[in-house]
Amino acid sequence: MSDYQKLLDEAKNAATEAQSTEELSSARADFLGKKSSLTDAKKNLGLLPESDRASAGKELNEIRKLVEEVFEDRAKSLQNEAWNLQFENERLDLSERFESLRRGHLHLITQARDHLEDVFVGMGFTVAEGPEVETAWYNFEALNIPDWHPARGNFDTIFVNLGDPEEVMLRSHTSPVQVRTMEKHKPPIYVVAPGRTFRTDSADATHLPAFNQIEGLVIDKGITMGDLAGTIDSFVQAFFGSEVKSRLRPSYFPFTEPSAEFDISRPDGSWLELGGCGMVHPNVLSNCGIDPEEWQGFAFGFGIDRLVAMRYQLDDIRELVVNDARFLRQF
Ligand code: PHE
Repeated sequence: MSDYQKLLDEAKNAATEAQSTEELSSARADFLGKKSSLTDAKKNLGLLPESDRASAGKELNEIRKLVEEVFEDRAKSLQNEAWNLQFENERLDLSERFESLRRGHLHLITQARDHLEDVFVGMGFTVAEGPEVETAWYNFEALNIPDWHPARGNFDTIFVNLGDPEEVMLRSHTSPVQVRTMEKHKPPIYVVAPGRTFRTDSADATHLPAFNQIEGLVIDKGITMGDLAGTIDSFVQAFFGSEVKSRLRPSYFPFTEPSAEFDISRPDGSWLELGGCGMVHPNVLSNCGIDPEEWQGFAFGFGIDRLVAMRYQLDDIRELVVNDARFLRQF
């Protein structure tokens, strides 16, 4: 009996010492396997006098059961330790984030918009705003684009099902803010109007159906195309740095005459088309209650998203709306 007690204690020690299931099963074999003393004892039962055999066998079974339990218990606790370790490893370590608290920041587009506003405010402009849902008057007619005008086709307009057909729409450019500003304010006018604009374009590497533009409008006395070119040049240098050049190319817009498109130089020497501009058409001035004999001005409008894509050399403009934090965090 004391031998058995000793065996049980030894089994307990061996089980506790085992640090893995492999170690545990080899320890188990030492105590319960074919070559163990318990198995030998069982084989040797036959050597006992017959009267003792039954009780010795019973005792042997009991001790064997106890030893088995020792190993089962240890197996369970090893399994628990393994699970705990796994949970520990897989747990999100939030403390790390709190330690170096990572602050969010403004979206790239918002940063660019703020920067643009700052640059223009520095040049003496104020910031104007207009609604994203517009009527045909503001988006087209007042801008010298009557409903028969083919230029309407250039603006892939998203119409809103309100009022007469094609009467209400998501603004397809920020130019309606020109009209709203001139209707409300007497010249001289120096405003920029950043905002969201919408067209039926499907999203691809260079297009977004909802994008951002910034409009500029200057109405004063004796304003010329030279003032326009100079304004665009100063803005481009203030925004991108002095190494970036700008150029105007003749173009056509119903609301400006003459009209131009303006490009900025890329580091590789190629040109990126940024937007349109020109001298405000006399009809537009009249439509807004301003006497074209007395006042002149220029207007320009360009895409903020494109500008951002160029500045940060994004291959795909859609990055700006996917809002993957890993992408946004870089800026
Ligand atoms: N609204 C024009 C566009 O979206 C750009 C523009 C603005 C052109 C102002 C001339 C003057 O294409």
